[in-house]
Amino acid sequence: MKLPYAEPYRIKTVEMIRRSTTDERKRWIREARYNLFNLKSDYVFIDLLTDSGTNAMSDRQWAEIMTGDESYAGARSYYKLKERVEEILGMPYFLPTHQGRAAENVLFSALLKEGDIVPGNAHFDTTKGHIEFRKARAVDCTIDEAFDTTVSHPFKGNIDLEKLETVLKSNSTEKIPLVILTVTCNSAGGQPVSMRNIRETAELCRRYKVPLFFDAARFAENAYFIKVREEGYSSKSIKEIVREMFSHVDGFTMSAKKDAIANIGGMVGFRDEELKKKASVFNIMFEGYLTYGGLAGRDLGALAQGLDESTEFDYLESRIGQVAYLGEKCKALGIPVQEPFGGHAVFVDAKRFFPHIPQAEYTAQLLAVELYIEGGVRGVEIGTLLADRDPETGKDRYPKLELLRLAIPRRVYTNNHMDYTAAALGNVFERRESIKNGLKIVKEAPILRHFTMELERL
Ligand code: F0G
Repeated sequence: MKLPYAEPYRIKTVEMIRRSTTDERKRWIREARYNLFNLKSDYVFIDLLTDSGTNAMSDRQWAEIMTGDESYAGARSYYKLKERVEEILGMPYFLPTHQGRAAENVLFSALLKEGDIVPGNAHFDTTKGHIEFRKARAVDCTIDEAFDTTVSHPFKGNIDLEKLETVLKSNSTEKIPLVILTVTCNSAGGQPVSMRNIRETAELCRRYKVPLFFDAARFAENAYFIKVREEGYSSKSIKEIVREMFSHVDGFTMSAKKDAIANIGGMVGFRDEELKKKASVFNIMFEGYLTYGGLAGRDLGALAQGLDESTEFDYLESRIGQVAYLGEKCKALGIPVQEPFGGHAVFVDAKRFFPHIPQAEYTAQLLAVELYIEGGVRGVEIGTLLADRDPETGKDRYPKLELLRLAIPRRVYTNNHMDYTAAALGNVFERRESIKNGLKIVKEAPILRHFTMELERL
């Protein structure tokens, strides 16, 4: 008999989670104004809100927590991280930050000015938020296949080189301080970018003398997809692939709360020392001194160890395999899911799930609410609420994809939890026609509204 797959780790510590009743959940979600960010985590049974900072650290990472050096300047933990950044990412300079958006803030403070344009492949919301906050514009050049959940393409995160070249050609490059390639592309459904696309994007950027940066939050998961899907990479190690990916870019921002398997942290990396020096001023102002950047020494150590663990094939196979396991279960129940499955999450196509409810009634948020009521599972809307309003017209802008994301924390849940989640979603799918109306907004903040907005059932 072929031996079945089993996780390459065993569990040393467990955390109890509590089930609740449907009536309790109906009350709690109403009190939370139908915004799942407002729920107490104790009211959630399986939390798939995000894979960010929700990871289970390893025994070795916990050991780093105990041995962290808390010196203000020049801490040993910083040098440990610096060594890993050089060795694994091949990047000569970096600044630690407290998380990914802080890295964006530091980099963009050094590079962006009003009226600038930042092309990329579907920028993440905080990235777009930081660009628009500076009165600059994020231009999405993702390939069209990314926006059709029924089309199968191995690298749906790819940038469309023609779209990118049109932007580069039709604007003065002085107005384009950088291009950002998000690996994997969260907003397109956790979809990877191929090595070929990375290389060709880098060549194009070089031709126009525009620096190329990674948003590297999920760089290791991207490397896994290159290994298993792209010709010529199957016999390369993940660490070799990661080195090659980073060899094409001028720098990166990273939320270390994802693929560094840490609970907090981030960094911004540079190939150019001058740019690093320029950004250092903002790091000191917003984050902290250059060798800790808003983190405790112990966090830097855990992050350094996490970079090493997340770039191991066995770990990635288990992690991405679990995402696919949930995806397959949903698919078997007839639930419309984005394919191929992403690296960190399964994305449910809410427009196809609720074809009778208009997007203007926040279909994906409605699905998130119904799934929570059904089983205490918390997902997150990646749709109209997240896309926010057009900064010029102030009106909702409707993204092509209206998705419910079920993001899986790393090394936290078992496949029984995945079975439970698929069954709960299956129950909502069965009663979908009895759900007649969506939601409306009662209160919203001027920017990044999805975190704090209040909604009502129509
Ligand atoms: N870039 C990407 C691609 C992200 O997915 C995130 C965060 C960030 C940047 C910002 O990093 O949260 O550390 O400040 N994504 C989380 C998510 C919040 O749930 O997908 P951060």
